Amino acid sequence: NTPQLHAVRGEILHFIANPASAGESALEHFADGVLVLRDGHVAELGPAPELLARLPAELPLTDYRGKLILPGFVDTHIHYAQTDIIASHGEQLLAWLEKYTFPAEARFADPAHARNVASFFCDELLRNGTTTALAFATVHAASVDALFEAALERRMRMISGKVLMDRHCPDFLRDTATGGYAESKALIERWHGRDRLQYAVTPRFAATSSPEQMTLAGRLYAEHPGIYLQSHVAENQGEVAWVAGLYPEARSYLDVYDRYGQLGMRSVYAHCIWLDDTDRRRMAETGAAISFCPTSNLFLGSGLFDLGRANELGLRVGLGTDVGAGTSFSMLQTLNEAYKVLQLKGQKLPAASAFHLATLGGAHSLYLDDRVGNFLPGKEADFVVLDPQATPLLARRMACAQTLDERLFVLMMLGDDRAVAATHVMGEARWQRPG
Ligand code: GUN
Ligand code: ZN
Repeated sequence: NTPQLHAVRGEILHFIANPASAGESALEHFADGVLVLRDGHVAELGPAPELLARLPAELPLTDYRGKLILPGFVDTHIHYAQTDIIASHGEQLLAWLEKYTFPAEARFADPAHARNVASFFCDELLRNGTTTALAFATVHAASVDALFEAALERRMRMISGKVLMDRHCPDFLRDTATGGYAESKALIERWHGRDRLQYAVTPRFAATSSPEQMTLAGRLYAEHPGIYLQSHVAENQGEVAWVAGLYPEARSYLDVYDRYGQLGMRSVYAHCIWLDDTDRRRMAETGAAISFCPTSNLFLGSGLFDLGRANELGLRVGLGTDVGAGTSFSMLQTLNEAYKVLQLKGQKLPAASAFHLATLGGAHSLYLDDRVGNFLPGKEADFVVLDPQATPLLARRMACAQTLDERLFVLMMLGDDRAVAATHVMGEARWQRPG
């Protein structure tokens, strides 16, 4: 087979390190750059004049001049089955789960419904420039099949798993400790490592799993090297108090997961608002990651995540939309609200750190930074093409922006799905904005 070569030209930006530690050298920027792709992977990246002078003249070239090309966004926490309850009014976490979430997830007993939502969900991610996601399915094994099938069709990098939930939930959404274990194992065998799909053991949160189920979830995670584990921790103060009553032997909410062997590399915990430094240090030393979900935390009135402290202690942190408690699929809008959360904490989120968080930082939190997150040679060629003139206000504000930093900040504050001109997965355009 002859290798498929293809080039893309435009303003190109990516991170080769974390700007918080590496400063300006973390970011590579080409005002007029070319990204050369071979068989869906990055072959090379450089300034257009130099590359175009030596690349074969017949090389197919997609011209995105006037647009900004970034690595595809990495959403480290989202619920595909909650697509239809985004923007549901009035409740904090526990009442919101009862009133909106559980009824919505019950509908996934019907595989046709699951396929319909999965297909919309994957397209919506792509419309927003997201090419990698760690997503909750529902308690139904077929809901995982539906999501993986939709992601596979689009060649997206998707990590997901069947929700484990054997108590404190409606009967129609309840599995059993041993049944959940067996179904998860079968799904792992069917899906984990197929194309770009990976499996995550998914205990919803400690409150809805019995100690027996927590033990078996820890066992699944230990038995399958390379597997993920995703859950929620310390999101809402009522939830924290509830879990303390259910697991009185644990030192903290996080310690519940620790006691059941659920902290480690490729374990990802959404929210992490009400942690102390003992918890944070334990996450850092086990290699567990945090998904920071600002739109969700504000929408449910859960609290303000302390990103500064997580960074000081060297934790892995990614960004999550947490749809349907989160209010947007857009990682740009999610960065907008992350900035505001940190304002309320007296902290700053520079634009470079923000875009790092949405790309390479997220990939690093998922131990995927050797595959995605930037444009180093050999990486999978997932990228988003942003239009800095997408709306009249963006165009007007951009015209006054002096520096790259300022332009990036304007994009994350004013940008959303309208700013996504195209999204490429493994080099191929999977979304193109009409017009
Ligand atoms: N905690 C347990 N389940 C959920 C959920 O579906 N969404 C959020 N935001 N928190 C949770
Ligand atoms: Zn969630």
